[in-house]
Amino acid sequence: MSQPLIVANWKSHKNQAEVLEWLQAYLLELGAMSGKVRVVIAPSYPVIPVVTQFLMDNKFPSTVIGVQDLSPFPAGAYTGAVSVQNLKGLNVRYAIVGHSERRRYFHETHQDVANKVEQALASQIQPIVCVDRDYIQAQASAISKDLLANCIVAYEPLEAIGSGQAESVEEVKAVCDEIQDAFGQVRIIYGGSVSAANVAKYLKVLTGVLVATHSLDAKKFAQLLVAAS
Ligand code: PGA
Repeated sequence: MSQPLIVANWKSHKNQAEVLEWLQAYLLELGAMSGKVRVVIAPSYPVIPVVTQFLMDNKFPSTVIGVQDLSPFPAGAYTGAVSVQNLKGLNVRYAIVGHSERRRYFHETHQDVANKVEQALASQIQPIVCVDRDYIQAQASAISKDLLANCIVAYEPLEAIGSGQAESVEEVKAVCDEIQDAFGQVRIIYGGSVSAANVAKYLKVLTGVLVATHSLDAKKFAQLLVAAS
C-alpha cells in the first residue's frame, strides 16, 4: 500500500517571510520522521519558488509541491491565469482543482474543472479533484472517460470545511462508494476539519487527507503528520 497522502492547502494565507518561518519550523519538527507519509504543500503561486528551493536545499524526500488551482487553458492570451507552462521548472507535482471555494467564489463549472484535469495530466501533474456529495456524478461525467482513472478525488463536504465539524468516518465511507461508482477505482482522500486528533481514523479507511486550517501552523501540522504515521 502506498504512503498516506497528506495535502496542505494554505489557501490565500502567508507571505514570503511567513512561508520561510513555517518551513524552518517544519524542518525542526520533522527532521526525524520524513518518509512515512507523502506530504503535498499547496502554497499560493508567488511563494512556490521559495518552497521549491527550500525543499531542494534541505532534501525533504517525501514533501512535494502542489498548486491550489490551474488554468483550464494552455499558455496563451488568458490574462491572470496560471497555465501549466508557467509552472514548468518549479517541481509542481499535484494540482487541487474544483475546490468548493473556487466553485463558489469564482463560479467554476464542472467543465472548467474537467479542462483543468486535462491540462494537469498533459503536463504530468497529478490532479486532485474536489467534490461534494451532490455533484459527484455530474463532475465525473464532465471529465473524459479515459482520464477518470488518473484522478485523485478529494471528498470535501461543505459543512465540514473550516468548521471544526468533521464528517463521521461512516458517512465518508458511504460517499466513497458513490465516488467509486462515478469515477471507478480511484484514490480517494477526505478533507474537512482534519486535525491531529482525528486524522488517524480517516487513514484507517482512506489513503489520504486534505488539510487547510491545521496546516497553517507548522507545529500543529507536524503533530498531524506524527498522528498520521
Ligand atoms: P479545513 O479546510 O481543513 O480548514 O477544514 C479543508 C479545505 O478547505 O480543503
